[in-house]
Amino acid sequence: MKLSAYRIAANQLRTTRILSVKTESPTVKTFTFKDKVCARAKPGQFLMLWIPGVDEIPLSILDANEDGAVSVAVKKVGEATQALHNKKTGETIGIRGPFGNSFTLKRGRILMVGGGTGTAPLLFLAKKLASKATKLVFVIGAKTKEELLFIDKLEEVRSEGNLVATTEDGSYGIKCLATTPLESLLAKEKFDMIYTCGPEQMMRKVLDLAEKHGITLEASLERLMRCAIGLCGSCVVGKYRVCRDGPVFTAQQLREVKDEFGISKRDFNGKRIPLE
Ligand SMILES: Cc1cc2nc3c(=O)[nH]c(=O)nc-3n(C[C@H](O)[C@H](O)[C@H](O)COP(=O)(O)OP(=O)(O)OC[C@H]3O[C@@H](n4cnc5c(N)ncnc54)[C@H](O)[C@@H]3O)c2cc1C
Ligand code: FES
Repeated sequence: MKLSAYRIAANQLRTTRILSVKTESPTVKTFTFKDKVCARAKPGQFLMLWIPGVDEIPLSILDANEDGAVSVAVKKVGEATQALHNKKTGETIGIRGPFGNSFTLKRGRILMVGGGTGTAPLLFLAKKLASKATKLVFVIGAKTKEELLFIDKLEEVRSEGNLVATTEDGSYGIKCLATTPLESLLAKEKFDMIYTCGPEQMMRKVLDLAEKHGITLEASLERLMRCAIGLCGSCVVGKYRVCRDGPVFTAQQLREVKDEFGISKRDFNGKRIPLE
């Protein structure tokens, strides 16, 4: 399929049935379904998942396989995600996508910093990079042990590297924010690339550390999304539309929007509000 035809196909809503539902934590479930268009997705891209009669929401792609199986990890936070959590194998959902750009696949010594469901696109990326990277180190953070996602799967893909887990309540790993062990890690080890996805305040700190140590960085952003194809303006950050220009941004692009990145977002009315 040519690229333009692929883009048109990507934006057409397809209905599909849920193949499996896996509970990852008290608030996160992984949903797997067949969709041959999203099966071609690259790490970092997202899809729009329609819950019939409720809403359509953006979700990062956790996995996409040649056999057509696609997975997303969904945290229960409000009406749409709660409705999705109530769904069972065999029930119908709608899919558009994949949308947005993707992470650059770099070779060498790689560091990934993830927080919460931000670990999902990093796991997809790690699987693609495992054979290319000379070292793959993960720093993964969450509020509690139960919210630390995909530790076992990350352990499987890491090569010649290690995994540092942090929790805010100290129930697993080191009791601190994910950014705390980064300071000492970057002081003693050299990396060619940092990939990060998670809470924006965390990514802002990761950006500052990457720049301090002269390391290339890519970060995946989340904003309110409706159309996902660059038309409605819901996802604007500075001069960028996250759905179309992102969701993956370079350090240089993030510096251009430094008055907003890690500081504010837009609400459903387009008003700038502080990040929680
Ligand atoms: C590119 C991208 C990738 C994402 N990937 C994941 C993922 O892999 N797993 C996951 O659990 N969540 C992901 N999200 C967030 C997810 O889209 C929201 O949690 C979901 O839309 C909330 O819907 P709700 O009705 O349950 O909650 P609501 O009660 O409507 O909202 C709760 C909060 O979720 C956010 N939100 C609500 N609607 C949207 C929307 N249309 N677009 C973006 N954010 C919204 C807002 O911050 C809001 O305050 C992603 C968001 C984006 C933009
Ligand atoms: S979601 Fe409509 S412009 Fe990005």
